[in-house]
Amino acid sequence: MAKEKLWGGRFHEGTAASVEAYTQSISYDWALYKQDIAGSCAHARMLARQGVISAEEADQLVAGLAAVRAEIEDGTFQWKKELEDVHMNIESRLTELVGDVGKKLHTGRSRNDQVALDFRLFVSDRLREWQRLARELAAVYMARAEEHQDTILPGCTHLQPAQPVSLAHHLLAYAWMLRRDVQRMADCEKRTRISPLGAAALAGTTYPLDPASVARELDMYGTFDNSMDAVSDRDFVIEALFCASTAMMHLSRCCEEIILWSNPAFGFVKLPDAYATGSSIMPQKKNPDVAEIMRGKVGRVYGDLTAMLTILKGLPLTYNRDLQEDKEPFLDADHTLSTSLELMAGMMKALRFDEVRMARALTAGFLNATELADYLVTKGIPFREAHHITGSAVALAEGKNLSLEALPLDALQGLCDRIGPDVFDVLEYRAAVARRNAPGGTGPLSVARQLEKMKAWLHETR
Ligand code: ARG
Repeated sequence: MAKEKLWGGRFHEGTAASVEAYTQSISYDWALYKQDIAGSCAHARMLARQGVISAEEADQLVAGLAAVRAEIEDGTFQWKKELEDVHMNIESRLTELVGDVGKKLHTGRSRNDQVALDFRLFVSDRLREWQRLARELAAVYMARAEEHQDTILPGCTHLQPAQPVSLAHHLLAYAWMLRRDVQRMADCEKRTRISPLGAAALAGTTYPLDPASVARELDMYGTFDNSMDAVSDRDFVIEALFCASTAMMHLSRCCEEIILWSNPAFGFVKLPDAYATGSSIMPQKKNPDVAEIMRGKVGRVYGDLTAMLTILKGLPLTYNRDLQEDKEPFLDADHTLSTSLELMAGMMKALRFDEVRMARALTAGFLNATELADYLVTKGIPFREAHHITGSAVALAEGKNLSLEALPLDALQGLCDRIGPDVFDVLEYRAAVARRNAPGGTGPLSVARQLEKMKAWLHETR
């Protein structure tokens, strides 16, 4: 039994079945097979260039690895738990296919630098895909914003009505968040896509390897500087999980708004049937389950990040088997984030915004109070005093169950004699939005500038 293991030379007895089941990683790290094979091909070619193996041997290894990949992809490959992980499964099958030359592949390499390479390639490949998906979603928010430049709704602070804003401005806020997510992922990718191959077990190698050429062949940005760091560093996983957590948090905030807005008390959005579910007992219900589940899934991604931080905190240098626990949290976060980004794009495309309900909501909550205060300032009243007078106007209107603009002029003039009939233009909600064209504001010109800048970025990152 011990003979079957690639590391079995010094062992007399086989591994207990329960130990094999507990320590194996093949049930999930098979997902790294493409990166493992690409890394091995690059390693084999480099060994030949450096004269460590012959060119024919490298060709045999590369052809054998291609055959293994074909078997994996057509579903005929037999993954074996007793071979522990993706690296040993592939190497063992390679040797079955090409004979003894297969045993030369691992020259100058350890599974420690091999797994670090594979996972760095895998995580950075996924970071690229996340960037693509997050960028697509930003484009959806932008397209919906473009449609709704003239739709006005209450903007909130403290979840209380604050000032009117355009729906375009509100939706673009999410596009900017996603743009930062994409930029954060791109930055993380630069540090992740660095080759550790050549670090060997921990101390570096005695073979005349050329790590830089391997990195170039694998489309990586550079090579390791310290072999001990190279085999034990998983900062890139933490960073990637932080990128995923932040993006999920952004999605969750939007989910929260979809959930609130679809409540009939708001009625700002109608959920398309394809993105809602019913209740088994209350026939009237249409529930925002997709948004709720997505909001809930953020918890597991934060958990994945916390797991990774915790796994690493007590590890002495260098490689420790604990590091094998880096894969499942990442795979889980990857699946969660990728599907959530895609689903949010579908849902945002399909949401129907109720402009009438939004407009109606503007008249509750004195959203134009700031306008009245600013108006008084233009009449020469110091802002603090203007704020106070406006407060009295709000109290007066509230007592009469009216909005500010519904108060008769003489009632307003009773609070301040500098108020004229021109006040009613100022109290218009749409006018309040239209005045805010300072950079980054909700005014139509500012929104047009945002749309332009967002479009330019989407074009650049195509
Ligand atoms: N499956 C292992 C992992 O994911 C590969 C590296 C094993 N290295 C070792 N020294 N046992 O970390």
